[in-house]
Amino acid sequence: MSYRPCYHFAPPFGWMNDPNGLCQFNGVYHLFYQYHPFGVEWDDMHWGHATSTDLLHWEHKPIALRPDHDYDRDGVFSGSALVKDGVLHLYYTGNTWLDEKRETLRQVQCLATSADGVTFVKSAQNPIISEIPQQGNAHVRDPKVWEADGRFYMVLGTRDATDGKVVLYGSDDAIHWSERGVIAGETGRHGWMWECPDVFSLDGQDVLLLSPQGMEPDGDRYHNLHQCGYFVGTLDLELPHFTHGAFTELDYGHDFYAAQTFLDERGRRILIGWNAMWECEWPEQAEGWTNQMTIPRELSLRDNCLYMTPIEEIISLRQQSHVLAGPKFEGDAFELSFETQNDFQFDCFGNAATFSKTGDWLELTRGTDVRRLQATGTTFRIFVDASSMEVFVNDGEFVFSSRVYPTSSRTHQLRGDLEAILHRF
Ligand code: FRU
Repeated sequence: MSYRPCYHFAPPFGWMNDPNGLCQFNGVYHLFYQYHPFGVEWDDMHWGHATSTDLLHWEHKPIALRPDHDYDRDGVFSGSALVKDGVLHLYYTGNTWLDEKRETLRQVQCLATSADGVTFVKSAQNPIISEIPQQGNAHVRDPKVWEADGRFYMVLGTRDATDGKVVLYGSDDAIHWSERGVIAGETGRHGWMWECPDVFSLDGQDVLLLSPQGMEPDGDRYHNLHQCGYFVGTLDLELPHFTHGAFTELDYGHDFYAAQTFLDERGRRILIGWNAMWECEWPEQAEGWTNQMTIPRELSLRDNCLYMTPIEEIISLRQQSHVLAGPKFEGDAFELSFETQNDFQFDCFGNAATFSKTGDWLELTRGTDVRRLQATGTTFRIFVDASSMEVFVNDGEFVFSSRVYPTSSRTHQLRGDLEAILHRF
């Protein structure tokens, strides 16, 4: 019995964390990722690389970036892609430890380019940003770059003594950058460090997506070690300032972090998240690999809420579809879809995890670890893949993403007064 997914992206071997450099370049989708190829634990970061034409079937490519220069010798950390003048530009953070215990660090921003999308050359001008931001500190990382009206912008995650922040930079040539200022962060309520910021416009509004470290649990919210969520508002690039509403968690499952988006050639805003959380146990390490990405999701904004819907290409994975005859069935890779107002309970891989609707409570329970949300659900799509479950409620209004490790049972059970369709992948 393997934990290896059939239709989620996982590294060929070794450790993987954040998705990086998501883009479509000359028609081909590129996924880069934080990668340690020499072991199953996090260590000296590289950028792993894979390409795809449908975001579901990925071809592993040679490692794109290695920690081989003075400015990035202890890690090529997270970042993003920009396609400019037919050249793929990758922006990343070069990490250097300043002491043996890895307690102090230097983080600088760097650029690598590629004309063919396979081999990458680091810029002779690296590091392209080496100063600590005025209202930040040495923790400054994860550049996300975009173009607007012929200018280039970059956001970085940083912190001061108490708060996470996002700082904006501007550039005319995407190489020389000047600091514009903090656009969000002095709230005192959203953790001590903001990682992996992403800014984009969607359906007439601006969205700031981020991964705050250290938010305290609040009722049923924020029970993961770190969070991933967003603010909706208006970004003024001149001031600069992001005026926004309340922070909203993007996913309610146990394993979702460091999500990144990109605009594809069809104009879709697509998101891939790291389907994991820091400081967990990863049984797949016994198989020589660690972690997987989420299903790619198309984003839309409805009533100021981000909806995440599985990309439509996922339908092409359906091999056989039929109405579920009894409550019990077996399988490693499938989608279960149904519409109901009634209560139900879905036990995944024996009792490895359970997703249920009871009145207006939605719950995903794994062992004793419950994630719950008070919300009305009527349509459900449950995706299971070897060692994970992703539940999309109401066309992606609420999503729960968790790793679920089968012990001995491959049997699932759906109990409730409803008719479900099982799509085997
Ligand atoms: C987020 C993160 C980033 C950093 C990377 C290092 O998970 O901590 O902030 O660039 O991972 O691997």
